[in-house]
Amino acid sequence: MTEMLIEAKGLARHYLVGRHRVLRALDGVDLGVARGATLGLVGESGSGKSTLGRTLVGLQKPSLGQVLFEGKDTATPEPSFMARLRRERQIIFQDPSGALNPRMTIGATVMEHLRVQGWSRADAQSQAAAAIEQAGLATSFLSRYPHEISGGQRQRAVIARAISTDPAFIVADEPVSALDVSIRAQIMNLLHQLQRERGLTMLFISHDLSVVAHMCSDVAVMHLGRIVERAPRAALFKTPRHPYTGALLSAIPIPDPVRERQRMRIILKGEVPNPANKPSGCSFHTRCPRATELCHRVDPPLRSIGTEHQIACHHPLE
Ligand SMILES: Nc1ncnc2c1ncn2[C@@H]1O[C@H](COP(=O)(O)OP(=O)(O)OP(=O)(O)O)[C@@H](O)[C@H]1O
Ligand SMILES: [Mg+2]
Repeated sequence: MTEMLIEAKGLARHYLVGRHRVLRALDGVDLGVARGATLGLVGESGSGKSTLGRTLVGLQKPSLGQVLFEGKDTATPEPSFMARLRRERQIIFQDPSGALNPRMTIGATVMEHLRVQGWSRADAQSQAAAAIEQAGLATSFLSRYPHEISGGQRQRAVIARAISTDPAFIVADEPVSALDVSIRAQIMNLLHQLQRERGLTMLFISHDLSVVAHMCSDVAVMHLGRIVERAPRAALFKTPRHPYTGALLSAIPIPDPVRERQRMRIILKGEVPNPANKPSGCSFHTRCPRATELCHRVDPPLRSIGTEHQIACHHPLE
């Protein structure tokens, strides 16, 4: 068995909306990421991707279920394990401007991140310099303020802060969505390179399947707080089994106009259901072309089909 570095077990996160309604942003997620793997996490807006990412790195507490790190529960860690968890789990957010304090230099930001985790001043200084260089910026950037540098450079600074603690696990939550198209590839290549060189384990969140195809060894698909399909990248792109994944894939434009026209498009009917008022049974049934009466009634559990492929569907695609 491959060792899971990080694992969600029956993970749920509920929010109270209004006075009586419960919004299930995560509704029973079981998901593991093997050490050294990059798992892509895709799904429409509001499906719970960021909530899952934040909960896995400990920024949010689960309402139910567990997050395990190296097989150990992270809910009530011993002080030494707690310190390690804070070092080993990092997150990179979508918008680098919001992630950096405008009144602090890049160097001060990275230093502070290290100092609160117990690094001495001298060690933090050399660690910050090493991290900024690994993120592809000269050490002179440490004395700059966020507004003095470009968006791509700001994201590199955010990445430097994340890798400065030598983490084992990084959540990259839409790390290139807020950037100019022209610099997206550079940042993706940087993340790819860091992942390879440092043997990082990553959860790479994106609503864009083509970005995920470039980065990830495995892909998980989320719909309304649940994982509905998970498979190695090649299998997921070639033979998606969940109708929702099929629909997401058919929404990627293909550059070749002939193939683009021949391709069968599955159009999703209707709107994403309100997560505070999820449909009965399978939460995708209101939009699914294959839905039957069974799907209205019974929520399909995530099950294995073949060795590495999992789906939650009563009527999978062939
Ligand atoms: N603090 C909160 N209070 C109430 N509801 C919340 C809160 N945070 C998130 N939600 C809700 O939880 C659901 C999942 O949100 P989340 O941000 O995890 O989705 P997402 O998949 O990351 O979406 P996006 O692609 O837009 O980033 C949404 O319906 C959202 O409105
Ligand atoms: Mg999000």
